[in-house]
Amino acid sequence: MNIASYFAKDLFYGKTVFITGGSSGINLGIARNFAAVGANLGILGRSEEKLAAAATELRALGARVSTHSADVRHYAALEKAIHDTKTALGPVHTLICGAAGNFPLSAEQLSPNGFKAVVDIDLLGSFHSCRAAFEQLKETKGNIIFISAGMALIPYAFQVHVGAAKAGIDNMMRNLALEWGRFGIRCNSIVPGPIEGTEGVRRLVPAGSMDQLRRAIPLGRLGTADDIGQLSVFLASPLAAYITGALIVADGGQNLPGSGAWTQLIAAEMTKAAG
Ligand code: NAP
Ligand code: COA
Repeated sequence: MNIASYFAKDLFYGKTVFITGGSSGINLGIARNFAAVGANLGILGRSEEKLAAAATELRALGARVSTHSADVRHYAALEKAIHDTKTALGPVHTLICGAAGNFPLSAEQLSPNGFKAVVDIDLLGSFHSCRAAFEQLKETKGNIIFISAGMALIPYAFQVHVGAAKAGIDNMMRNLALEWGRFGIRCNSIVPGPIEGTEGVRRLVPAGSMDQLRRAIPLGRLGTADDIGQLSVFLASPLAAYITGALIVADGGQNLPGSGAWTQLIAAEMTKAAG
C-alpha cells in the first residue's frame, strides 16, 4: 500500500519533518511515508552508518534529507541539530519523538542506572526535542507526535523502566497540548503494537513465541511500519487540524482490556479442536 494513493503527493511539499530515531525501524517507516507525500526530512540518531543508509533510501524516494548524529540525552546537541535542519531544509513543521531504548529485565534485577538510561533517552530526550524545536514549531504552527508504547497503558512484565518513561511521555504530551495550543502547536501520541521486523520486537518477543503473540492480537497479525507511518501523516496533516492531546492506539487490539482472557479462550478452543 502506498500512502500517496490516499493522500495528495504534495501534501507535505516544502514542509520539514524532524524525526528522532529516524534512521531505523518504525521511525524510518514514518520517514518513508512522509517522503511519499513530499516532505523534507531531518533524521537524528547516534550511529552515522545507520543515518547514511537511511538518507540514501529516503533520497531515492525523492526527499531532501539532512542527517544529525547526536544523542537525545544532550540538549545542546539537539539544539544544534534542529538549528542545522532549519538552515538546510526550512523550519520544522512536524516533530516526531521516536528515539528510545529498551531491554527486558525484572525490576529486582534492573540497576538504577539502567532505569535512568531508558528514562533519559525516552522521556528527557523527548522533552529536549520539544524544547529545542519550540520556536520553529511556533513559527510553522506545527505539531508534535510522540511514539509511546503499550506499557504506558498497562503494566508489562520486565518493563518497569519503559512503562515509566512512556507514561511520562504521554502525560507530557497532554501538558504540552494544553500549554502550546495557544501557539497553534498540536501534540499527540501514537501507541504502536508490536511492529514486525523491528528492534523492539527482536528484543522483547522471545524466539519461538511469534505465533503465540499473533494469537494475542485480536486482528491476528503484527503491525507494519507503514501502519504507524500512515497514521503519523494523518495526525500531522490538516485532516487532523482539531486533534490535540490525543493518544491514538494502533495495536490491532493487543492492549484492549480482556485481550488476555480472550487469548486463553482461543488457545483452549484450538487445543480442543486439535483433539
Ligand atoms: P529502533 O529501530 O531501535 O529505533 C530506535 C531509534 O532510536 C534508533 O534509530 C536509534 O538509533 C535511536 N536512538 C536510540 N537511543 C538514542 C539516543 N540516545 N539518542 C539518539 N537516538 C537514539 O527500534 P523500534 O523498535 O523501531 O522502535 C522505535 C520506536 O517505537 C521507539 O520509540 C519504541 O519505543 C517504539 N515502539 C516500538 C514498538 C515495536 O514493536 N518495535 C512497539 C511500541 C513502541 P541509534 O542507535 O543509532 O542511536
Ligand atoms: N540488561 C540489563 N541492563 C542493561 C542492559 C541489558 N540488556 N543494557 C544496558 N543495561 C544497563 C547497563 O548495565 C547500565 O547500568 P549499570 O551502569 O548499572 O551497569 C545502564 O543500563 C546503561 O547502560 P549503557 O550501555 O551505558 O547504556 P547506553 O546509554 O549506551 O544504551 C540502551 C542505552 C541500554 C537502552 C541500549 O540498549 C540502546 O542504545 N538501545 C537503543 C535501541 C533500542 O533499544 N531499540 C528498541 C526500541 S523499542
